[in-house]
Amino acid sequence: MKVSVSPGHNINGTLILPLFEGSEGVSDSLQEGLHTALKGQINRILSEGDFKAKVKTSMSIIGSEGGKAMLVGLGKEDDVDIHAYRKAGAAVIASRKKAHGTDLTVRFSGTPVESMGAFIEGMLLRDYSYDHYKMQDEDDKEAEIDVRITCDEGQEGELAALTKIHAGVASGVHLSRDLGNCPPNDMYPEAFADQAWEWAKQYDNVEVTIINYDQAQKAGMGGLVAVGMGSARKPCMVIFEMNSDQSGRCPMLVGKGITFDTGGISLKPGANMDEMKYDMGGSATVFGTMQALASTGHKGKVVAITCMAENMPSSNAQRPGDVITTLSGKTIEILNTDAEGRLVLSDGLWKAGEFDPEYIIDFATLTGACVVALGHEATGLWSNDDDFRTRIHEAGNAVGELAWPMPLLPAFEKEMTNSKIADTRNLGAGRYGGANTAAAFLKQFVPNRNYEKDGEQITWAHMDIAGTYWGAKTNSMVGNGATGIHVRTMYHLITNG
Ligand code: BES
Ligand code: ZN
Ligand code: ZN
Repeated sequence: MKVSVSPGHNINGTLILPLFEGSEGVSDSLQEGLHTALKGQINRILSEGDFKAKVKTSMSIIGSEGGKAMLVGLGKEDDVDIHAYRKAGAAVIASRKKAHGTDLTVRFSGTPVESMGAFIEGMLLRDYSYDHYKMQDEDDKEAEIDVRITCDEGQEGELAALTKIHAGVASGVHLSRDLGNCPPNDMYPEAFADQAWEWAKQYDNVEVTIINYDQAQKAGMGGLVAVGMGSARKPCMVIFEMNSDQSGRCPMLVGKGITFDTGGISLKPGANMDEMKYDMGGSATVFGTMQALASTGHKGKVVAITCMAENMPSSNAQRPGDVITTLSGKTIEILNTDAEGRLVLSDGLWKAGEFDPEYIIDFATLTGACVVALGHEATGLWSNDDDFRTRIHEAGNAVGELAWPMPLLPAFEKEMTNSKIADTRNLGAGRYGGANTAAAFLKQFVPNRNYEKDGEQITWAHMDIAGTYWGAKTNSMVGNGATGIHVRTMYHLITNG
Protein backbone atom coordinates (compact mmCIF):
# COMPACT_ATOMS: atom_id res chain seq x y z
CA MET A 1 0.00 0.00 0.00
CA LYS A 2 1.23 3.45 -0.91
CA VAL A 3 0.12 6.29 1.36
CA SER A 4 0.44 10.00 0.66
CA VAL A 5 -0.70 12.89 2.80
CA SER A 6 -1.87 16.33 1.68
CA PRO A 7 -4.22 19.12 2.72
CA GLY A 8 -5.86 19.41 -0.74
CA HIS A 9 -9.52 18.66 -1.44
CA ASN A 10 -9.51 16.81 -4.73
CA ILE A 11 -10.64 13.22 -4.62
CA ASN A 12 -8.68 10.43 -6.28
CA GLY A 13 -10.72 7.29 -6.94
CA THR A 14 -13.07 6.19 -4.16
CA LEU A 15 -13.86 8.63 -1.38
CA ILE A 16 -13.49 7.14 2.12
CA LEU A 17 -15.47 9.06 4.70
CA PRO A 18 -14.95 8.23 8.41
CA LEU A 19 -18.02 9.32 10.40
CA PHE A 20 -19.14 9.47 14.03
CA GLU A 21 -22.17 7.51 15.14
CA GLY A 22 -25.34 9.53 14.73
CA SER A 23 -23.96 11.90 12.04
CA GLU A 24 -26.98 13.30 10.24
CA GLY A 25 -25.06 14.87 7.40
CA VAL A 26 -21.60 15.61 6.10
CA SER A 27 -20.02 18.60 7.83
CA ASP A 28 -19.24 21.68 5.70
CA SER A 29 -15.51 21.20 5.88
CA LEU A 30 -15.80 17.62 4.59
CA GLN A 31 -18.14 18.61 1.77
CA GLU A 32 -15.55 20.68 -0.06
CA GLY A 33 -14.63 19.25 -3.43
CA LEU A 34 -17.40 16.63 -3.31
CA HIS A 35 -19.54 16.16 -6.41
CA THR A 36 -23.07 17.48 -5.71
CA ALA A 37 -24.74 14.19 -6.63
CA LEU A 38 -22.54 12.20 -4.26
CA LYS A 39 -22.92 14.80 -1.53
CA GLY A 40 -26.72 14.63 -1.86
CA GLN A 41 -26.74 10.88 -1.76
CA ILE A 42 -24.51 10.69 1.34
CA ASN A 43 -26.54 13.33 3.15
CA ARG A 44 -29.74 11.44 2.37
CA ILE A 45 -28.32 8.17 3.67
CA LEU A 46 -27.22 9.85 6.88
CA SER A 47 -30.33 11.93 7.50
CA GLU A 48 -32.55 8.89 7.02
CA GLY A 49 -30.44 6.91 9.44
CA ASP A 50 -29.55 4.27 6.86
CA PHE A 51 -25.93 4.27 8.01
CA LYS A 52 -25.45 4.49 11.77
CA ALA A 53 -21.62 4.73 11.71
CA LYS A 54 -21.13 2.19 14.48
CA VAL A 55 -17.52 1.16 14.97
CA LYS A 56 -16.15 -1.35 12.42
CA THR A 57 -19.14 -0.89 10.04
CA SER A 58 -19.03 0.48 6.52
CA MET A 59 -21.37 1.22 3.63
CA SER A 60 -20.41 1.40 -0.03
CA ILE A 61 -21.86 3.76 -2.58
CA ILE A 62 -21.13 2.56 -6.07
CA GLY A 63 -22.83 3.61 -9.30
CA SER A 64 -23.52 7.18 -8.26
CA GLU A 65 -22.84 9.75 -10.99
CA GLY A 66 -20.82 11.68 -8.41
CA GLY A 67 -18.24 8.93 -7.99
CA LYS A 68 -17.71 6.03 -5.61
CA ALA A 69 -17.58 6.28 -1.85
CA MET A 70 -17.35 4.23 1.31
CA LEU A 71 -18.78 5.48 4.59
CA VAL A 72 -16.93 4.15 7.64
CA GLY A 73 -18.14 4.11 11.23
CA LEU A 74 -16.00 5.43 14.08
CA GLY A 75 -18.58 4.85 16.82
CA LYS A 76 -19.77 7.48 19.30
CA GLU A 77 -17.78 10.71 19.22
CA ASP A 78 -17.43 10.74 23.03
CA ASP A 79 -16.00 7.21 23.11
CA VAL A 80 -13.77 7.42 20.08
CA ASP A 81 -10.11 6.70 20.72
CA ILE A 82 -7.15 5.67 18.59
CA HIS A 83 -8.30 2.03 18.76
CA ALA A 84 -11.58 2.99 17.07
CA TYR A 85 -9.67 4.86 14.35
CA ARG A 86 -7.35 1.88 13.83
CA LYS A 87 -10.30 -0.52 13.60
CA ALA A 88 -12.12 1.77 11.17
CA GLY A 89 -9.05 1.94 8.93
CA ALA A 90 -8.80 -1.85 8.96
CA ALA A 91 -12.53 -2.14 8.20
CA VAL A 92 -12.05 -0.10 5.02
CA ILE A 93 -9.51 -2.58 3.65
CA ALA A 94 -11.50 -5.59 4.87
CA SER A 95 -14.63 -4.45 3.03
CA ARG A 96 -12.98 -2.99 -0.07
CA LYS A 97 -14.15 -4.78 -3.22
CA LYS A 98 -12.62 -4.80 -6.66
CA ALA A 99 -15.30 -2.33 -7.75
CA HIS A 100 -13.90 0.30 -5.39
CA GLY A 101 -10.68 0.28 -7.33
CA THR A 102 -7.25 0.68 -5.78
CA ASP A 103 -7.17 4.49 -5.59
CA LEU A 104 -8.67 5.69 -2.31
CA THR A 105 -8.94 9.17 -0.81
CA VAL A 106 -9.65 9.39 2.91
CA ARG A 107 -11.26 12.68 3.84
CA PHE A 108 -10.49 14.08 7.31
CA SER A 109 -11.07 17.51 8.77
CA GLY A 110 -10.40 18.73 12.29
CA THR A 111 -9.02 15.30 13.23
CA PRO A 112 -5.93 15.00 15.47
CA VAL A 113 -2.80 13.70 13.73
CA GLU A 114 -2.55 10.71 16.09
CA SER A 115 -6.10 9.62 15.19
CA MET A 116 -5.51 9.90 11.46
CA GLY A 117 -2.24 8.02 12.00
CA ALA A 118 -4.09 5.19 13.74
CA PHE A 119 -6.59 5.01 10.85
CA ILE A 120 -3.72 4.68 8.38
CA GLU A 121 -2.09 2.10 10.66
CA GLY A 122 -5.27 -0.01 10.56
CA MET A 123 -5.36 0.20 6.78
CA LEU A 124 -1.70 -0.79 6.50
CA LEU A 125 -2.00 -3.70 8.93
CA ARG A 126 -5.12 -5.12 7.28
CA ASP A 127 -3.69 -4.82 3.77
CA TYR A 128 -2.17 -8.28 3.81
CA SER A 129 -2.81 -11.60 2.16
CA TYR A 130 -0.67 -14.67 1.85
CA ASP A 131 -0.89 -15.88 -1.73
CA HIS A 132 2.66 -16.86 -2.60
CA TYR A 133 1.53 -20.40 -3.28
CA LYS A 134 -1.46 -19.54 -5.51
CA MET A 135 -1.28 -19.42 -9.24
CA GLN A 136 -2.85 -16.12 -10.20
CA ASP A 137 -4.43 -15.07 -13.43
CA GLU A 138 -2.76 -11.93 -14.76
CA ASP A 139 -6.26 -10.43 -15.26
CA ASP A 140 -7.16 -10.97 -11.59
CA LYS A 141 -4.08 -9.17 -10.32
CA GLU A 142 -4.80 -5.80 -8.76
CA ALA A 143 -2.46 -2.86 -8.56
CA GLU A 144 -1.05 -1.81 -5.21
CA ILE A 145 -3.59 0.19 -3.18
CA ASP A 146 -2.82 3.89 -3.41
CA VAL A 147 -4.23 5.91 -0.50
CA ARG A 148 -4.36 9.67 -0.25
CA ILE A 149 -5.14 11.22 3.11
CA THR A 150 -6.52 14.73 3.11
CA CYS A 151 -5.83 16.52 6.37
CA ASP A 152 -5.97 20.14 7.53
CA GLU A 153 -3.42 22.71 6.41
CA GLY A 154 -0.30 22.40 8.60
CA GLN A 155 -0.86 18.77 9.68
CA GLU A 156 0.78 17.18 6.65
CA GLY A 157 4.40 17.16 7.90
CA GLU A 158 3.65 15.50 11.21
CA LEU A 159 1.18 13.06 9.67
CA ALA A 160 3.60 12.06 6.91
CA ALA A 161 6.29 11.33 9.51
CA LEU A 162 3.88 9.26 11.61
CA THR A 163 2.71 7.38 8.51
CA LYS A 164 6.30 6.44 7.76
CA ILE A 165 6.69 4.92 11.22
CA HIS A 166 3.41 3.01 10.95
CA ALA A 167 4.46 1.69 7.54
CA GLY A 168 7.79 0.48 8.95
CA VAL A 169 6.16 -1.23 11.92
CA ALA A 170 3.49 -2.79 9.67
CA SER A 171 6.28 -4.21 7.51
CA GLY A 172 7.51 -5.99 10.66
CA VAL A 173 4.02 -7.34 11.39
CA HIS A 174 3.69 -8.54 7.79
CA LEU A 175 7.10 -10.21 7.92
CA SER A 176 6.03 -12.04 11.07
CA ARG A 177 2.85 -13.20 9.29
CA ASP A 178 4.78 -14.29 6.19
CA LEU A 179 7.07 -16.42 8.34
CA GLY A 180 4.15 -17.90 10.27
CA ASN A 181 2.03 -18.64 7.21
CA CYS A 182 4.85 -20.23 5.25
CA PRO A 183 4.27 -23.99 4.89
CA PRO A 184 6.56 -26.14 7.03
CA ASN A 185 8.14 -27.93 4.06
CA ASP A 186 9.66 -24.57 3.15
CA MET A 187 9.96 -23.01 6.61
CA TYR A 188 12.43 -25.20 8.48
CA PRO A 189 15.15 -24.11 10.93
CA GLU A 190 17.87 -23.42 8.38
CA ALA A 191 15.44 -21.71 6.00
CA PHE A 192 14.52 -19.29 8.79
CA ALA A 193 18.21 -18.73 9.55
CA ASP A 194 19.03 -18.14 5.86
CA GLN A 195 16.20 -15.65 5.57
CA ALA A 196 17.44 -13.78 8.65
CA TRP A 197 20.97 -13.77 7.24
CA GLU A 198 19.83 -12.38 3.88
CA TRP A 199 17.52 -9.84 5.58
CA ALA A 200 20.33 -8.42 7.73
CA LYS A 201 22.39 -7.52 4.65
CA GLN A 202 20.16 -4.52 3.95
CA TYR A 203 20.94 -2.88 7.31
CA ASP A 204 24.41 -1.65 8.26
CA ASN A 205 23.51 -1.67 11.95
CA VAL A 206 22.22 -5.25 12.15
CA GLU A 207 24.19 -8.48 12.40
CA VAL A 208 22.88 -12.02 12.35
CA THR A 209 24.87 -14.93 13.75
CA ILE A 210 23.81 -18.53 13.19
CA ILE A 211 24.76 -21.26 15.64
CA ASN A 212 24.41 -24.43 13.56
CA TYR A 213 23.68 -27.95 14.75
CA ASP A 214 27.32 -28.87 15.11
CA GLN A 215 28.11 -25.75 17.08
CA ALA A 216 25.01 -26.16 19.24
CA GLN A 217 26.09 -29.71 20.12
CA LYS A 218 29.62 -28.59 20.95
CA ALA A 219 28.34 -25.66 23.03
CA GLY A 220 26.18 -28.00 25.10
CA MET A 221 22.77 -26.77 23.98
CA GLY A 222 21.15 -29.99 25.07
CA GLY A 223 17.58 -28.66 24.91
CA LEU A 224 17.78 -27.40 21.35
CA VAL A 225 19.64 -30.52 20.21
CA ALA A 226 17.25 -32.96 21.91
CA VAL A 227 14.21 -31.45 20.24
CA GLY A 228 15.77 -31.05 16.80
CA MET A 229 17.82 -34.21 16.46
CA GLY A 230 14.89 -36.36 15.32
CA SER A 231 14.42 -34.33 12.17
CA ALA A 232 16.37 -34.39 8.93
CA ARG A 233 16.08 -30.60 9.10
CA LYS A 234 18.57 -29.89 11.87
CA PRO A 235 18.05 -27.27 14.59
CA CYS A 236 19.91 -24.01 14.95
CA MET A 237 19.94 -20.82 16.99
CA VAL A 238 19.79 -17.41 15.32
CA ILE A 239 21.11 -14.31 17.07
CA PHE A 240 20.11 -10.83 15.87
CA GLU A 241 22.12 -7.86 17.12
CA MET A 242 21.11 -4.29 16.35
CA ASN A 243 23.34 -1.27 17.09
CA SER A 244 25.77 -3.49 18.96
CA ASP A 245 28.32 -0.67 19.07
CA GLN A 246 26.14 1.10 21.66
CA SER A 247 27.20 0.60 25.24
CA GLY A 248 24.97 -0.34 28.15
CA ARG A 249 22.24 -2.86 28.79
CA CYS A 250 19.56 -3.44 26.19
CA PRO A 251 16.27 -5.25 25.62
CA MET A 252 16.61 -8.92 24.74
CA LEU A 253 13.93 -10.93 22.96
CA VAL A 254 13.88 -14.73 22.78
CA GLY A 255 11.55 -16.71 20.51
CA LYS A 256 10.35 -20.32 20.31
CA GLY A 257 10.86 -21.41 16.74
CA ILE A 258 9.42 -24.90 16.27
CA THR A 259 8.90 -24.93 12.52
CA PHE A 260 6.64 -27.95 12.90
CA ASP A 261 5.48 -29.64 16.07
CA THR A 262 4.31 -33.22 15.54
CA GLY A 263 4.73 -33.82 19.27
CA GLY A 264 7.70 -36.11 18.54
CA ILE A 265 7.48 -39.62 20.00
CA SER A 266 4.61 -38.33 22.19
CA LEU A 267 2.83 -37.84 18.87
CA LYS A 268 -0.04 -35.38 18.66
CA PRO A 269 -3.46 -36.49 17.40
CA GLY A 270 -3.96 -35.96 13.66
CA ALA A 271 -6.81 -33.45 13.73
CA ASN A 272 -5.61 -29.93 12.91
CA MET A 273 -1.98 -30.95 13.16
CA ASP A 274 -1.32 -28.71 10.15
CA GLU A 275 -1.75 -25.75 12.50
CA MET A 276 1.48 -26.71 14.19
CA LYS A 277 3.34 -24.91 11.40
CA TYR A 278 2.60 -21.81 13.49
CA ASP A 279 4.66 -23.20 16.34
CA MET A 280 7.47 -20.89 15.28
CA GLY A 281 5.25 -17.86 16.02
CA GLY A 282 7.54 -16.73 18.83
CA SER A 283 10.55 -16.60 16.52
CA ALA A 284 8.44 -14.78 13.92
CA THR A 285 7.44 -12.17 16.53
CA VAL A 286 11.09 -11.62 17.33
CA PHE A 287 12.21 -11.38 13.67
CA GLY A 288 9.25 -9.10 12.85
CA THR A 289 10.12 -6.81 15.77
CA MET A 290 13.70 -6.51 14.51
CA GLN A 291 12.34 -5.53 11.08
CA ALA A 292 9.99 -2.96 12.66
CA LEU A 293 12.88 -1.42 14.59
CA ALA A 294 15.43 -1.57 11.79
CA SER A 295 13.14 -0.15 9.12
CA THR A 296 12.17 2.79 11.31
CA GLY A 297 15.80 3.59 12.06
CA HIS A 298 15.83 2.66 15.74
CA LYS A 299 19.09 3.87 17.26
CA GLY A 300 19.21 1.84 20.48
CA LYS A 301 20.84 -1.53 21.03
CA VAL A 302 18.56 -4.58 20.85
CA VAL A 303 19.48 -8.27 20.81
CA ALA A 304 17.25 -11.21 19.94
CA ILE A 305 17.63 -14.98 19.91
CA THR A 306 15.43 -17.49 18.12
CA CYS A 307 15.59 -21.20 18.93
CA MET A 308 14.78 -23.11 15.75
CA ALA A 309 13.96 -26.82 15.57
CA GLU A 310 11.50 -29.24 14.00
CA ASN A 311 9.91 -31.68 16.44
CA MET A 312 9.68 -35.04 14.64
CA PRO A 313 9.32 -38.68 15.66
CA SER A 314 12.13 -40.83 14.25
CA SER A 315 14.69 -43.46 15.21
CA ASN A 316 17.00 -40.75 16.47
CA ALA A 317 14.37 -38.64 18.17
CA GLN A 318 14.47 -38.10 21.92
CA ARG A 319 12.25 -40.34 24.07
CA PRO A 320 10.05 -39.85 27.10
CA GLY A 321 12.30 -40.98 29.94
CA ASP A 322 15.46 -39.38 28.56
CA VAL A 323 17.41 -37.00 30.75
CA ILE A 324 19.14 -34.16 28.93
CA THR A 325 21.72 -31.59 30.04
CA THR A 326 21.04 -28.03 28.94
CA LEU A 327 23.42 -25.13 28.31
CA SER A 328 22.85 -24.00 31.90
CA GLY A 329 24.20 -27.30 33.19
CA LYS A 330 20.78 -28.11 34.66
CA THR A 331 19.25 -31.42 33.66
CA ILE A 332 15.71 -32.09 32.47
CA GLU A 333 13.77 -35.32 32.73
CA ILE A 334 11.76 -35.64 29.52
CA LEU A 335 8.31 -36.93 30.36
CA ASN A 336 6.55 -35.84 27.20
CA THR A 337 8.33 -34.95 23.97
CA ASP A 338 5.43 -32.69 23.00
CA ALA A 339 6.46 -30.24 25.73
CA GLU A 340 9.39 -29.25 23.50
CA GLY A 341 9.12 -25.46 23.37
CA ARG A 342 10.36 -25.13 26.92
CA LEU A 343 13.37 -27.29 26.07
CA VAL A 344 14.63 -25.11 23.23
CA LEU A 345 13.86 -22.00 25.27
CA SER A 346 15.88 -23.29 28.21
CA ASP A 347 19.00 -22.84 26.06
CA GLY A 348 17.83 -19.57 24.49
CA LEU A 349 17.10 -17.98 27.86
CA TRP A 350 20.41 -19.11 29.32
CA LYS A 351 22.33 -17.89 26.27
CA ALA A 352 20.56 -14.50 26.61
CA GLY A 353 22.45 -13.89 29.86
CA GLU A 354 25.73 -13.61 27.89
CA PHE A 355 24.56 -10.24 26.57
CA ASP A 356 23.95 -8.84 30.07
CA PRO A 357 20.54 -7.51 28.95
CA GLU A 358 18.37 -4.96 30.72
CA TYR A 359 15.55 -7.49 30.51
CA ILE A 360 14.56 -10.64 28.64
CA ILE A 361 11.15 -11.26 27.09
CA ASP A 362 10.39 -14.62 25.55
CA PHE A 363 7.59 -15.31 23.06
CA ALA A 364 6.25 -18.80 22.58
CA THR A 365 3.25 -20.70 21.29
CA LEU A 366 3.92 -22.72 24.39
CA THR A 367 0.78 -24.39 25.70
CA GLY A 368 -2.69 -25.49 24.71
CA ALA A 369 -3.54 -24.76 28.36
CA CYS A 370 -3.04 -21.04 27.72
CA VAL A 371 -5.60 -21.22 24.92
CA VAL A 372 -7.99 -22.97 27.33
CA ALA A 373 -7.45 -20.19 29.87
CA LEU A 374 -7.58 -17.09 27.67
CA GLY A 375 -9.00 -18.23 24.35
CA HIS A 376 -7.79 -16.25 21.37
CA GLU A 377 -8.40 -12.94 23.11
CA ALA A 378 -5.28 -12.41 25.17
CA THR A 379 -1.68 -13.53 25.43
CA GLY A 380 -0.65 -15.03 28.77
CA LEU A 381 1.91 -12.83 30.50
CA TRP A 382 4.18 -13.91 33.36
CA SER A 383 7.12 -12.08 34.91
CA ASN A 384 9.54 -12.26 37.80
CA ASP A 385 9.02 -8.50 38.26
CA ASP A 386 5.53 -7.08 38.89
CA ASP A 387 6.36 -3.59 37.61
CA PHE A 388 7.84 -4.97 34.44
CA ARG A 389 4.78 -7.14 33.87
CA THR A 390 2.60 -4.04 34.24
CA ARG A 391 4.76 -2.15 31.74
CA ILE A 392 4.29 -4.87 29.13
CA HIS A 393 0.56 -5.11 29.87
CA GLU A 394 0.30 -1.35 29.34
CA ALA A 395 2.38 -1.39 26.16
CA GLY A 396 -0.02 -4.02 24.82
CA ASN A 397 -3.04 -1.93 25.81
CA ALA A 398 -1.56 1.13 24.10
CA VAL A 399 -1.51 -0.65 20.73
CA GLY A 400 -4.63 -2.81 21.17
CA GLU A 401 -2.81 -6.12 21.78
CA LEU A 402 -4.00 -7.65 25.03
CA ALA A 403 -1.46 -9.43 27.26
CA TRP A 404 -3.08 -10.70 30.44
CA PRO A 405 -1.18 -11.04 33.76
CA MET A 406 -0.83 -14.65 34.94
CA PRO A 407 0.68 -15.98 38.19
CA LEU A 408 4.24 -17.15 38.57
CA LEU A 409 3.88 -19.14 41.79
CA PRO A 410 6.45 -20.98 43.94
CA ALA A 411 4.11 -23.99 44.03
CA PHE A 412 4.37 -24.35 40.25
CA GLU A 413 8.16 -24.05 40.42
CA LYS A 414 8.21 -26.80 43.03
CA GLU A 415 6.07 -28.99 40.81
CA MET A 416 8.52 -28.62 37.91
CA THR A 417 11.65 -29.24 39.99
CA ASN A 418 10.65 -32.36 41.90
CA SER A 419 11.91 -34.95 39.41
CA LYS A 420 13.37 -38.00 41.16
CA ILE A 421 16.34 -38.19 38.83
CA ALA A 422 16.96 -34.73 37.33
CA ASP A 423 16.99 -31.06 38.29
CA THR A 424 13.74 -30.36 36.46
CA ARG A 425 10.96 -32.20 34.63
CA ASN A 426 9.32 -30.97 31.43
CA LEU A 427 5.81 -31.97 32.48
CA GLY A 428 3.71 -30.96 35.48
CA ALA A 429 2.41 -33.56 37.93
CA GLY A 430 -1.14 -33.22 36.57
CA ARG A 431 -2.69 -31.42 33.68
CA TYR A 432 -4.12 -28.50 35.65
CA GLY A 433 -2.47 -25.10 35.39
CA GLY A 434 -0.43 -26.25 32.40
CA ALA A 435 0.37 -22.73 31.19
CA ASN A 436 1.57 -21.76 34.68
CA THR A 437 3.74 -24.83 35.17
CA ALA A 438 5.33 -24.15 31.76
CA ALA A 439 6.13 -20.56 32.80
CA ALA A 440 7.51 -21.79 36.14
CA PHE A 441 9.70 -24.25 34.25
CA LEU A 442 11.14 -21.49 32.02
CA LYS A 443 12.01 -19.43 35.10
CA GLN A 444 14.52 -22.15 36.09
CA PHE A 445 16.58 -21.19 33.04
CA VAL A 446 16.57 -17.41 33.38
CA PRO A 447 20.11 -16.60 34.49
CA ASN A 448 21.17 -14.39 37.34
CA ARG A 449 23.10 -11.23 36.45
CA ASN A 450 26.57 -12.25 35.20
CA TYR A 451 25.59 -15.83 35.98
CA GLU A 452 26.48 -15.25 39.65
CA LYS A 453 25.31 -18.12 41.78
CA ASP A 454 23.54 -16.10 44.42
CA GLY A 455 22.98 -13.00 42.32
CA GLU A 456 19.76 -11.36 41.28
CA GLN A 457 17.80 -12.96 38.48
CA ILE A 458 17.62 -10.88 35.30
CA THR A 459 14.26 -9.16 34.82
CA TRP A 460 12.26 -11.49 32.62
CA ALA A 461 8.79 -11.90 31.15
CA HIS A 462 7.24 -14.82 29.32
CA MET A 463 4.47 -14.34 26.75
CA ASP A 464 2.46 -17.41 25.72
CA ILE A 465 1.02 -16.54 22.30
CA ALA A 466 -0.47 -19.99 21.56
CA GLY A 467 -3.96 -18.47 21.32
CA THR A 468 -3.14 -15.07 19.87
CA TYR A 469 -0.64 -15.89 17.16
CA TRP A 470 -3.27 -17.49 14.95
CA GLY A 471 -6.97 -18.32 14.83
CA ALA A 472 -7.80 -14.98 16.46
CA LYS A 473 -11.08 -14.26 14.66
CA THR A 474 -11.79 -11.11 16.68
CA ASN A 475 -8.46 -9.55 15.73
CA SER A 476 -9.71 -7.14 13.07
CA MET A 477 -6.18 -6.24 11.96
CA VAL A 478 -5.89 -9.53 10.09
CA GLY A 479 -8.09 -11.64 7.82
CA ASN A 480 -6.84 -15.12 8.61
CA GLY A 481 -3.71 -17.12 9.44
CA ALA A 482 -0.78 -15.75 11.39
CA THR A 483 -1.63 -12.52 13.22
CA GLY A 484 1.84 -11.07 13.73
CA ILE A 485 0.79 -10.20 17.29
CA HIS A 486 3.11 -8.27 19.62
CA VAL A 487 5.48 -6.83 17.04
CA ARG A 488 3.66 -3.57 17.76
CA THR A 489 3.66 -4.14 21.53
CA MET A 490 7.41 -4.63 21.44
CA TYR A 491 7.98 -1.66 19.18
CA HIS A 492 5.99 0.46 21.62
CA LEU A 493 7.76 -0.91 24.70
CA ILE A 494 11.24 -0.54 23.22
CA THR A 495 10.78 2.91 21.68
CA ASN A 496 8.59 4.50 24.36
CA GLY A 497 10.52 3.21 27.38
N1 BES B 1 3.01 -26.16 20.43
C1 BES B 1 2.29 -26.75 21.50
C2 BES B 1 1.34 -25.79 22.18
C3 BES B 1 0.11 -25.40 21.41
C4 BES B 1 -1.01 -26.18 21.46
C5 BES B 1 0.09 -24.23 20.72
C6 BES B 1 -2.15 -25.80 20.79
C7 BES B 1 -1.05 -23.86 20.06
C8 BES B 1 -2.17 -24.63 20.09
C9 BES B 1 3.27 -27.25 22.57
O1 BES B 1 4.50 -27.64 22.14
C10 BES B 1 2.61 -28.42 23.20
O2 BES B 1 2.38 -29.38 22.53
N2 BES B 1 2.34 -28.31 24.49
C11 BES B 1 1.70 -29.33 25.21
C12 BES B 1 2.34 -29.40 26.56
C13 BES B 1 1.97 -30.60 27.36
C14 BES B 1 2.52 -31.85 26.71
C15 BES B 1 2.53 -30.42 28.73
C16 BES B 1 0.21 -28.99 25.33
O3 BES B 1 -0.12 -27.82 25.44
O4 BES B 1 -0.60 -29.90 25.25
ZN1 ZN C 1 4.57 -29.66 21.51
ZN1 ZN D 1 5.17 -26.68 20.42
